[in-house]
Amino acid sequence: MNRALQTGSAASPPRSAPPSAASRGEDPATYGGEFVMSDAEFNRITAKVFEIAGIVLKDHKRQMVYTRLSRRLRATGLTSFGQYMDLIDRPEGAGELVQFTNAVTTNLTSFFREGHHFTHLREHVLEPLAKSGKTRLRVWSAGCSTGEEPYSIALTARAAARSMASVDFRILATDLDTNVLATGKAGVYPEARAADIPAELRSGALAKSGDRVEFSSQVRAMIAFRKLNLLHPWPFRGPFDAIFCRNVLIYFDAETKAGLVRRFAEALTDDGILYLGHSESLLGEHPLLRSEGRTIYRRRR
Ligand SMILES: C[S@@+](CC[C@H](N)C(=O)[O-])C[C@H]1O[C@@H](n2cnc3c(N)ncnc32)[C@H](O)[C@@H]1O
Repeated sequence: MNRALQTGSAASPPRSAPPSAASRGEDPATYGGEFVMSDAEFNRITAKVFEIAGIVLKDHKRQMVYTRLSRRLRATGLTSFGQYMDLIDRPEGAGELVQFTNAVTTNLTSFFREGHHFTHLREHVLEPLAKSGKTRLRVWSAGCSTGEEPYSIALTARAAARSMASVDFRILATDLDTNVLATGKAGVYPEARAADIPAELRSGALAKSGDRVEFSSQVRAMIAFRKLNLLHPWPFRGPFDAIFCRNVLIYFDAETKAGLVRRFAEALTDDGILYLGHSESLLGEHPLLRSEGRTIYRRRR
């Protein structure tokens, strides 16, 4: 039943409904669902998302916000977005704040997305560094979503393994969203998703189980999945030989993006590489980074 239209039962006289968005003089919208989301509620939600994640949700994201948070209203048994926002602002709403954060992030990803980055990683980072005699290599997948990116890095490193046999190689994979991190840690994916993994990289790395594939314990051990909000202090020092932060900055405003790019640059080794998403090119000259091809940046010495 449409809760916005719910009335009292015949036995008890209908109680007056709380003032609706319309009666508060706002523009109500139900987006075809059972709840009403006023302009004021949408603005309160977007302000909270910006505060906790730096993510800017513009007006065209209203339907997405409505759909995703309607699920949380149903799960918590609340009947308005205002009540829901009150809950996550209270100390007892701390658990729901995590669910709120998970609900508003966009986690689209795939194996070997923007494949030229992995070719570059192998040819211009992993193989040269291994040949140079370096014994410690660190790569960070910042905003790793469900893990396809760090597993693609791990498979790329395995392919370069002959030259890296004696190298201590580790991948740090971080995200704000706890649901996606759990998927990454499990290392199990629908077979259809794994179709993007080149055939020559599969042997010994993943096993088929029904309509799913599972990464071997050896591959999973290469990656440490950790919860991290990029806007907060980073509890590690690096330095990293390469940082992947792809299709994450796109959700931030210019100031947040510039601040993060500087922090990434400072967390790189002397000539470490920063990989950004296809629509996240840096404009103009950067004091700490120089362009090395499509959304690939090398730390200036
Ligand atoms: C679109 S996915 C990109 C995944 C992967 N890097 C790729 O390019 O395929 C963006 C990820 O950034 C994460 N994210 C958004 N804001 C974040 C923040 N403030 N701190 C950490 N991760 C964040 C989201 O949870 C989401 O999983």
